[in-house]
Amino acid sequence: MKSPKLRLFSGMKPTGRIHIGNYFGALKQFVDLQDTHDTFIFIANLHALTTLPTKDQLLEDTNNLILDYLGAGLDPEKVTLFKQSDVPAHASMTWVFNNLVTVPYLMRAHAYKDAEAKGKELNAGTFDYPVLMASDILLYDTDVVPVGKDQKQHVEYARDIAEKFNHQYGEQFKLPKELILEDTGIIPGTDGQKMSKSYGNTIPLFATDEEITKAVMSIVTDSRERNEVKNPDELVLYQIHKYFNDSVELRNWYAEGLGYGDAKKQLIKDIITFVTPMRERREHFANNPKLVQDILIQGAYKANDIAMKKVFDVYEAVGLTS
Ligand code: ADP
Ligand code: TRP
Repeated sequence: MKSPKLRLFSGMKPTGRIHIGNYFGALKQFVDLQDTHDTFIFIANLHALTTLPTKDQLLEDTNNLILDYLGAGLDPEKVTLFKQSDVPAHASMTWVFNNLVTVPYLMRAHAYKDAEAKGKELNAGTFDYPVLMASDILLYDTDVVPVGKDQKQHVEYARDIAEKFNHQYGEQFKLPKELILEDTGIIPGTDGQKMSKSYGNTIPLFATDEEITKAVMSIVTDSRERNEVKNPDELVLYQIHKYFNDSVELRNWYAEGLGYGDAKKQLIKDIITFVTPMRERREHFANNPKLVQDILIQGAYKANDIAMKKVFDVYEAVGLTS
């Protein structure tokens, strides 16, 4: 029976070490909402395939992401955790949806337009990315999808596709809503641009003390003298720091002209304090691979149950089975 709680579905691609932007922009919301929502979090490894990783890289990134989820605080007793590739329904549903969207519609997707603007040669998987993502979301009668701002359009696409299907074949899909914490915003990287794995400007969430120190030391500082900048929000350093320490005291220190060197030292300390319990939790699971495997198997069973049923209903609705 479906729980009376709202169903939440989300996940991330295993495409490299997650960073504090991924944590505050997405993962933290998953953790915060797991008590109040019927939560499904998956590893989008079919989506990762669009970047053509090597076999070893994909396996390693997948293994790391599940540990990151668990380390960050997702509780397998509360959350259904699974790998996208363990649930064949995602690909089956995508094929049905592919016929409901037009090429010009997919060409309007931000991700497509960005790739095109950069003159990249695009594979068909990347072009179809939003349709696979719609399948992920819609298979589970999802109510809410917590994601970072840049993923909003993808959830809109899922809604459009659900409406189109329901209109054409009869009501099968719930219309999902994105859940974006407006005050979370975009976390800047060490160079002041959006923090992203592809820009090489990240502070990894599960880094060693040395790596954290190195990343923080490389954060750009203002060309003005520190005491000339009165508003802390103008400083990339503070824009990052406030996620780890949002005290009035820290803000005042910055406003009063806390020097860049001292501010960086404090930030290193604050990050380490923040991530230490997460690291310990991650270590625990990393040392128990059998436990992690069991979590994923159980998650796959549960996800397959729901997703296969939806595929059967849809196959029936469109005339693929009778
Ligand atoms: P990346 O840009 O590093 O490759 P992804 O595209 O894999 O990150 O994003 C995974 C999740 O993290 C998405 O929900 C995305 O919106 C969120 N996210 C990524 N970078 C940031 C950031 N700098 N600030 C806020 N959220 C972010
Ligand atoms: N596109 C998302 C990202 O880049 C990952 C993703 C794939 C996803 N399918 C999803 C997120 C379904 C939420 C729901 O972060």
